[in-house]
Formats: sequence, C-alpha cells, structure tokens
Amino acid sequence: MRVLGIETSCDESAVALWDGGVRACRTQSQIPMHAVFGGVVPELASREHLRVLPALVEQTLAEAGLGAADVDLIAVTRGPGLLGALLVGVAFAKAMAVAVDRPILGIDHLQAHLMAAFVDQDPVFPAVGLLVSGGHTALYAMHDVDRMELLGRTLDDAAGEAFDKIAKLLNLPYPGGAYLDALAQRGSVSRPFLPRPFLDNDHCDFSFSGLKTAAGIWIRDHGISPLEYSTFDATAVPAAVCDLCAEVNQAVVDTLVEKTRRALVRFPEARALVVAGGVAANTAVRAACAALACEYGLAFFVPPLAYCGDNGAMVAFLGHLLGTRGYRHDLSFEAIPRGRRIPHDVLRTSS
Ligand code: KG4
Ligand code: ZN
Repeated sequence: MRVLGIETSCDESAVALWDGGVRACRTQSQIPMHAVFGGVVPELASREHLRVLPALVEQTLAEAGLGAADVDLIAVTRGPGLLGALLVGVAFAKAMAVAVDRPILGIDHLQAHLMAAFVDQDPVFPAVGLLVSGGHTALYAMHDVDRMELLGRTLDDAAGEAFDKIAKLLNLPYPGGAYLDALAQRGSVSRPFLPRPFLDNDHCDFSFSGLKTAAGIWIRDHGISPLEYSTFDATAVPAAVCDLCAEVNQAVVDTLVEKTRRALVRFPEARALVVAGGVAANTAVRAACAALACEYGLAFFVPPLAYCGDNGAMVAFLGHLLGTRGYRHDLSFEAIPRGRRIPHDVLRTSS
C-alpha cells in the first residue's frame, strides 16, 4: 500500500511516502522563523504550512517517482497539536483525497511518534510506550497498533518544554533541548540539587513546571547570567552552567524512568519498551531507558534520530499499518487541538 503522510501539527511541515519502506521523506522546518520570538507563534506556523505544503507534497511524490494518482491512501496528522496548523494539513489532505479520489485517514500524532520506533522493523506488541516531545509527555500501554491505552500524561509542561524553557533562561539557541543536552555532556553533578518532580504519588502522570521554576531559582541564587555570544560555542560556556545542564538532564531522566517503571508494573504483559518523540534524541534519556528495558528483560525500541522529532515518515507508516487493517475516515473528521481527547470516529472497512 502506497501511503502519503502529511504532518503539520506544530512547526515542521513534513511529508513522506511509504511503499513497503520510506521511499521519500521531506521536512521543512520553521525553526529559524520562530527562533526570533523564542517559541512557536501559532498564527505564523499555520501560514507557513499553507505556504510550503503544496510544493513539499509535489517534491516528495517526485522523489518517489510517483504521481498523486499512484497513492493508495492519504494519512494526515489530525491532532493533538496547534489547531490552526493542524487545519492546514487536514484541509489539504481532504482536498487531495477528493481530487484524486483516494481514501483518507486522520492520524494521532502521539501514536505516530511511538510507531516511528518501528519504521525499519516489524512492530513488537504488547509494549509500554513513553512519548516525550516538546508538546507532550505520555505513557501508553501499547496493546496493538489500533489499541493504545493512555496510562499517564503531563498535567502541565511537557519534558521538552521544560528543557526549552530552562534553556531560554540561559539564553541558549532555540529550541534549547539539544543545546542543553550537549552542554550536559561537559558538566558533572556529584549531588542532586534540583527536584525530581511529581514522584510523591502512585500514578503515571507527569508535571515538569516545578523543575523549570526550581532551575530558575537556582540560576538566580547562583548569580548565573544569561549567556552572551554571537555564535554559540559550547567550549566557552562556564562550568557551572554545564553542571546545571547535567543536573536538568538527570532530573528529567530520573522522573521519566520512575514513571516508566510504574507503567511496566501496571502493564506486565509488555514485551518491549518504546521511547519516542523529540526528547528521545536526548543522550541521557536514550541510555537510561535502554538500561531500564534491559533490567526488565524487554526489547528496546527508539527511533533513529531523524525520526525522533516531527516527521512525515511516522505518519505515513502508521497510516500504512492502520490502512492495511481497513481503517479509514470519511471527510467529516476534525482536527483536534492539544488538550482535547481524540474521538474514536474511525471507520473500518474489510481489511
Ligand atoms: O517531537 P518534537 O519535534 O515536537 C513535538 O511534537 O512537540 O520535539 C521537539 C522537542 C523540543 O522541545 C526540543 O528541545 C526537544 O524535543 N529535543 C531535545 C533534544 N533534542 C530535541 N530535548 C532534550 N535533549 C535533546 N537532545
Ligand atoms: Zn511531535
């Protein structure tokens, strides 16, 4: 099945073509545009998706040596994400589905992130899935590709948001997660000095806003000034800042590992641990989750770095897996913003 995947939930316009493997995958990042504002400006994101999406789809099809009529299914991210940004992708996909008379499938962005870990191999179920990105942090019992049960989610900031906001306090380039991670490699911590947030409970939900506040207080109390530079140079960053970054990394990792441990206890059927999303690119997160999987005797899956952040391949791949099982949407399905539950409105034809 040839599936065109379209992703516009946040600040990456991304398209991919799946045909027994990823045949073409294109991403046009808006990061330079939003960096000026230090964060994603939703209205600008929507306009930029609208501007670049038609050419991106054309280029992706051309790279795969196909025309629009060769596509069997159009898969598009329907949420959660920024509503205006999602609407651009969904409206485009619906229009294309009508124009070429092909079926359409709305894709859950978070489930697509998780499935990115399996793009190059057969998925392993049941699994526990930890999704850590800039907008979301969630734990799933992944029973099957069409049955993912939410075990816990962040009640405020996502893990990536905490990284980015702390990085912003230090005036690291935007988005700061990867820069903070790079500086963490140069730092060391002998004794924890930041909280491991929201562990004093028995559930799998997360809360990262307190970590950002604690880091802000530590920065103020230790007289750390925002970094000044014209070109970022990790070697010129003071040791205290690198130590702080190492501690932030460790605080996030300890929290993710503890909550994932709880998820593994709640879902003992799991045969695998899957970690995905932009923050799955983090060195410490990858290493700690691999060690956790090993401790529980589980197979460990994490996407290649290219598929950790938002991309079209994960949408096309999940579209392929669900599409071959006969799942479809009619043209009435809606885009769902962050904070609203994705309705179970999918239709199933014979597979
Ligand atoms: O999955 P993604 O592209 O966006 C959402 O769907 O939200 O994730 C982007 C997030 C950003 O917050 C970015 O700072 C973070 O992933 N990130 C990292 C690293 N690389 C990207 N955070 C920590 N360490 C990294 N190495
Ligand atoms: Zn994402």
